[in-house]
Amino acid sequence: MLKWDVGFDLIHILLFLIPPYVANAAPVVLGGGAPIDLGRRTWDGRRILGDGKTIRGLVAGLVAGFTAGFVEAYAVGEGTLLTIAILSSCGAMAGDIIGSFVKRRLNVERGRPSLVMDQLLFIVLAIACAYPVLSVQTPDILLPESVLFILLFTYVMHRAMNIVANRMGLKKVPW
Ligand code: CTP
Ligand code: MG
Repeated sequence: MLKWDVGFDLIHILLFLIPPYVANAAPVVLGGGAPIDLGRRTWDGRRILGDGKTIRGLVAGLVAGFTAGFVEAYAVGEGTLLTIAILSSCGAMAGDIIGSFVKRRLNVERGRPSLVMDQLLFIVLAIACAYPVLSVQTPDILLPESVLFILLFTYVMHRAMNIVANRMGLKKVPW
């Protein structure tokens, strides 16, 4: 019908993406203080997660993601959006932490880029954690073309936002 009708509901996808994006971005502004790993190291002698993953950043990310979901649920009048946001925000923060864990084990220094870990793992885990609710409520988000769109869009958005954050002086490096 419409030229931009791409076969899946972009509004559903954007509503889904906002809370995990907010959860992932909030720590850059609000993080700091004690690291989650409390400075401890693993068997390889390197930090478990590193100084880039702080307790305050984790809490801020979760609260910010839940808040975004609450605002969405209220605005749209659909309570399930809050449930999905809670699951996806937890997934996003878990993905961020797992990414740092894997980066440290691969001897990638804190703050050095890694395509999969930095840009995509958080959104993959966000989808995975919200899967049980998405599959019932908005299954169109789980279509292969939707997931592919989400991965490409997230990569572009992540790159763009990190360049902006770098220019604004929020991040030392543009990734
Ligand atoms: N941040 C935080 N707590 C978190 C996640 C992020 O305080 N749980 C803050 C840190 O200041 C971090 C910044 O947000 O430096 C950017 O996050 P990210 O790019 O995920 O961390 P990196 O510093 O790149 O570290 P890593 O190599 O472990 O990803
Ligand atoms: Mg980084």
